[in-house]
Amino acid sequence: MSHIRITQLLKTRPIGQTVEIKGWIRTRRDSKGFSFLEVNDGSCVANLQVIAEDSLPRYQEEILRLTTGCSVRISGQLAASPAKGQTVELKAVEVEVYGWADPEIYPLQKKRHSFEFLREIAHLRPRTNSLGAVARLRSALSFAVHRFFQEQDFQYIHTPIITTGDCEGAGEMFTVTTLDLNNVPRKDDRPDFSQDFFGRQASLTVSGQLEAEIYCLALGNVYTFGPTFRAENSHTSRHLAEFWMIEPEMAFCDLAQDIQVAEAFIKYLVQYALDHCPDEIELFANFVDKGLRARLTAVLAQDFARITYSEAIDRLKTCGKKFDFPVAWGTDLQSEHERYLCEEVFKRPLIVTDYPKKIKPFYMRVNDDNATVAAMDILVPGLGEIIGGSQREERYDRLLSRLEEMGLKPEDYNWYLDLRRYGTAPHAGFGLGFERLIQFISGMANIREVIPFPRTPGSATL
Ligand code: 4AD
Ligand code: MG
Repeated sequence: MSHIRITQLLKTRPIGQTVEIKGWIRTRRDSKGFSFLEVNDGSCVANLQVIAEDSLPRYQEEILRLTTGCSVRISGQLAASPAKGQTVELKAVEVEVYGWADPEIYPLQKKRHSFEFLREIAHLRPRTNSLGAVARLRSALSFAVHRFFQEQDFQYIHTPIITTGDCEGAGEMFTVTTLDLNNVPRKDDRPDFSQDFFGRQASLTVSGQLEAEIYCLALGNVYTFGPTFRAENSHTSRHLAEFWMIEPEMAFCDLAQDIQVAEAFIKYLVQYALDHCPDEIELFANFVDKGLRARLTAVLAQDFARITYSEAIDRLKTCGKKFDFPVAWGTDLQSEHERYLCEEVFKRPLIVTDYPKKIKPFYMRVNDDNATVAAMDILVPGLGEIIGGSQREERYDRLLSRLEEMGLKPEDYNWYLDLRRYGTAPHAGFGLGFERLIQFISGMANIREVIPFPRTPGSATL
């Protein structure tokens, strides 16, 4: 007989039948003549309650020694449970211990541990209720991302992880090299990358967008979903050095349509999480963020608010609130500005459009005012920016002068310019930070809690 997962057991409720489960002990309580074992197998939030009577073989030697973290196989008969808050329980017929977990040293105990403490035991933290729930939410939403795009005939493109261009132009790239770091060959006072593995300097990608544009201008609607890397020295609760990004790119599409897709996408993912991970959301709403449910339902209930960057600057200047960072047209919005607008003024997701071209990358389409670009950021309450996107500059001459204006070498972007030389078309896209999304939907305060193995400045365990 093969074992059944607890999630399946709770759905099918085969009362009266003999079943076998395998999982880890959460707690053991002893009563007169029997013990209660709470078993979790990672398939869902719920534990299964097991009744182990003292007449079972090895009751004294083994069952009474079971502690948090031991792994077990238990077969028995499923019964409707008289206990409150629980629908079924398993009356054990056989208990086999696969692995003991010495209670003197096992780091996870029944009490709640701080997330900071759990980060120090990356190899055990998914065994906790909250981190296990995050892992299942991530998995469900990864599937939902693909479903959303596949249902609308977008093609999934695998863009490279090792690249030789800097999409965002921020110079925040990790170099990939096999040069001998103790004896780096040099030329003109620089490392001589012509002797490196690829014959040129290569890096980990900061975004798959530019490569996605190539496929967009051949297949129409495409998306990427993969890891991206940023060597920015940001010690915040919203930045990782390695994160996952979803980047759709759509041909024959302008900024207005881009925004429509982005808003529909976020709503779809929130709805998907509510529909498919109700127990996980319940756990987050009870133990992580009391305001979670209200925030999520507000996302679904109304249209996102809209404001242009210039309007936002005016609002911030005249609102009478003191900010740490000065507000001036031409400077980027800081997190405190974004959160004020989103949380205090609009109290729902906010789309900011038409940023000054000076603070945005070269690929964004210049507006007729020649001062702003067709860009959009989506900000959400509690977090700030979750999506960044734009219509792309599809006009060859404009793109060329933008590259020159920004001090970039057009010869480095020849292939990108070619896309504008041959059959160019209006197109647009955006990037959704997957961890920011999971943070938003789980209410986790720190982004380090929503990725299995966080990489941040000074920290990369495993
Ligand atoms: O705004 P960004 O830098 O935009 C791009 O990379 C574009 N190429 C996207 C596109 O148009 N195809 O990043 C997009 C999103 C941000 O809104 C944020 O959610 C997330 O990626 N992000 C990060 N998430 C975690 N840690 C970091 N260091 C992040 N940097 C960006
Ligand atoms: Mg951005």
